Amino acid sequence: MENSIDDEKISINDIKPDKSKRILTGDRPTGRLHIGHLFGSLKSRVELQDKFETYIEVADVQALTDNFNNPDKVKQNVSQIVIDYLSVGIDPTKANIFLQSKIQEIAELTVFYSNLVTIARLQRNPTVKTEIAQKKEIFGESVTYGFLGYPVSQAADITAFDASYVPVGEDQLPLIEQCREIVRKFNSIYGETLREPVAVMSKNIRIKGLDGNVKMGKSLGNALYLSDDLQTITEKVMSALTDPARIKKDDPGNPDICMVYYYHKLFSDENTCKNVCEECKAGKRGCVACKKQLIENINKTLEPIREKRHYYEERPKEVMDILMSGTSHARDVAKQTMEKVKKSMKLDY
Ligand code: TRP
Ligand code: SF4
Repeated sequence: MENSIDDEKISINDIKPDKSKRILTGDRPTGRLHIGHLFGSLKSRVELQDKFETYIEVADVQALTDNFNNPDKVKQNVSQIVIDYLSVGIDPTKANIFLQSKIQEIAELTVFYSNLVTIARLQRNPTVKTEIAQKKEIFGESVTYGFLGYPVSQAADITAFDASYVPVGEDQLPLIEQCREIVRKFNSIYGETLREPVAVMSKNIRIKGLDGNVKMGKSLGNALYLSDDLQTITEKVMSALTDPARIKKDDPGNPDICMVYYYHKLFSDENTCKNVCEECKAGKRGCVACKKQLIENINKTLEPIREKRHYYEERPKEVMDILMSGTSHARDVAKQTMEKVKKSMKLDY
């Protein structure tokens, strides 16, 4: 098949725009998105929607694999995540935002693919392994069949749309590799049918938390959310980790160990960053003033996002209409894949 690009992963800068190629990506709707998502994936999706036929999955079925006991949480977060997408500039006229649970072909493919992967292989998947270790409070000592198998379902997500590219963060690479293995196995047994997807590494920025933790996350309580209002941002930035050795304004500081400087580099222009760095080192900058300037610049980025969010929060029907129309288009594509798959598997009755 023409698809087979040998590289299993490439950088976002290395792919040529091509509207005839599809990209597929998604998120579990389990919580509000934060600025880690903004820099890590959302900004690149906004770019990619102009270059490829784009599908963005709200993975509610996958979210249930580790939230099966909390369906309300998943349900509430479905519309929230769609609002997050729309407010950062994902444009429903360019990208199909769709809901996993409404595409029954994904569930059906998951069953077919489950014969093509061993339990041992799933248990060795590094992403799954890490997650199981982190989710002891849900799974105890014994993980569910559904959670262990979610990579199979994710392979169904990707292949149902015949996606060429899957933009993901580093932590998802083992899942794409697993998908590629399933595709190769399928094609070798049932004949060339499915496309092997290529992982596209978004610029690979992992945003640190306000407390300096290498990861920003809800459970860590160190995140700035896209939906945070000015007051919340102010409180969070005011308590962010700075150079602890600095007590008086004229103490020379080390911006490289200060989270305020770190965030300046994300939200402030080059000139400001240069000044922050020089003045801090020279003991000519107060931390409070430095934080206030950062708050202002974060707010400049988040204000338009907040405005759009507000618009959609007032219009829940419009949000659901967008999701359902994306879903209906996505379903048409998944149906075509299913026809091919059933034919190859001799299930075309
Ligand atoms: N597993 C992904 C995450 O936790 C979400 C996801 C579901 C996904 N289906 C996908 C990502 C398909 C890429 C492609 O972030
Ligand atoms: Fe951090 Fe700014 Fe204070 Fe320097 S002046 S320690 S960069 S907050």
